[in-house]
Amino acid sequence: MIKIAVLVSGNGSNLQALIDADLSGKIVGVLSNKPEAYALTRAQQAKIATAVIEHKQYPSREAFDEVMHQQLLDWEADLIVLAGFMRILSKKFVKAWEGKMLNIHPSLLPHYKGMHTHQRVLNTGDILHGCTVHYVTAELDAGQALAQGVLRVSHQDNATTLAERVHKLEHLIYPQVVEWICSGTLQPADTGVYYHGKLMHEPVQFCKF
Ligand code: GAR
Repeated sequence: MIKIAVLVSGNGSNLQALIDADLSGKIVGVLSNKPEAYALTRAQQAKIATAVIEHKQYPSREAFDEVMHQQLLDWEADLIVLAGFMRILSKKFVKAWEGKMLNIHPSLLPHYKGMHTHQRVLNTGDILHGCTVHYVTAELDAGQALAQGVLRVSHQDNATTLAERVHKLEHLIYPQVVEWICSGTLQPADTGVYYHGKLMHEPVQFCKF
């Protein structure tokens, strides 16, 4: 059984979606760089081990990442799932978990890497928006995409409503991709991202590749 470690910094609604999903893997630990993260409460309620490693207490990114790395080894994690983990990772850490670490990002990558994606989509006037699950590589938000959820931006949307709508898509696609990996049905050699189904409706169809 695949052992999953989830890295968080905040609310943890994606963690909750993973906890609630009927995964064939097991979440063995939840690690936060912020002691106040509500995600820790969610983990404790689900009787999952937690660790708090505060980045502020370490002299460098590398030193912080090394302590995280040791914790993940202690949990014997096979798969690292970043779920609202708001720290840039060192090259060494990323290399150590290459091909075993996923992130979810609130945009249709490769568009809108970085922060404030919903407002930037509105500013540009895009008609489609969504979220992407991708492998983590040394370059920010640039690893191979595994699935995307897509929604149509409405005239009534603002950054808050878009964030809520994207979150709902995230909660659909992240557990699904994690389950593909846990059940061995993901083919990492495949390339490309395809939109399937009707983009006009929510919940939107999504696909692996
Ligand atoms: C999610 O929207 C996720 O896509 C985003 O943080 C939010 C965490 O929400 N991640 C990033 O922006 C990473 N670049 P959650 O704590 O409720 O799961």
